[in-house]
Amino acid sequence: MSAPCNVVVLISGSGSNLQALIDNLQGNDNPARISAVISNRAEAYGLIRATTAGIATEVLDHKAFDGREAFDAALIELIDRHDPQLVVLAGFMRILTPAFVRHYQGRLLNIHPSLLPKYKGLHTHQRALEAGDAEHGCSVHFVTEELDGGPLVVQAVIPVQSDDTPGSLAQRVHVQEHHIYPLAVGWFAHDRLRLGEYGAMLDGQPLPATGYLIRN
Ligand code: GAR
Repeated sequence: MSAPCNVVVLISGSGSNLQALIDNLQGNDNPARISAVISNRAEAYGLIRATTAGIATEVLDHKAFDGREAFDAALIELIDRHDPQLVVLAGFMRILTPAFVRHYQGRLLNIHPSLLPKYKGLHTHQRALEAGDAEHGCSVHFVTEELDGGPLVVQAVIPVQSDDTPGSLAQRVHVQEHHIYPLAVGWFAHDRLRLGEYGAMLDGQPLPATGYLIRN
């Protein structure tokens, strides 16, 4: 049995990925335990999800800070009070400072709604449609200083259908997100997933550049 793995989840909005983590990680023999959920927005619905699940919540409003460095320094302090082995970005819509990313090197995961390295940033579903892509999907990756960059852990691929809209794609990608994020967090908590010198490692073996690939 692996040692308990405290996880702090950072959100900004709906928190459906947080809900998937709550549903998949709590209550079974998974060593991952969500010790706190932190939002930069007081109105984030994910805070209600956390409270309902009996998880501690914190709000740190970025607008109350004079710049990114000051906010990220306060965020580090708040996160570290919960003593996490892993910090999970679940729709946390803030660009992080290099100091923040370095502090959590190797224990900071993000989920992004595209097949990275394609479509970093926003409007990923629209951009995949405009490019005429036959496939789209989502990615979990270790966070580095590059926005939506960093070694890939797992990707889920879905076919794009001829009648897809950004909304329909978003819906189907979300279903996949809710599958791959608990999977990746579970691997980490079970000591199976690590950030090695040259990239993400699963069970001691380097993962391919795409991460572990799930085709649907
Ligand atoms: C998710 O689709 C996630 O991939 C995306 O925000 C959404 C949050 O949804 N994250 C990014 O775009 C990060 N660059 P949720 O609040 O329902 O989990």
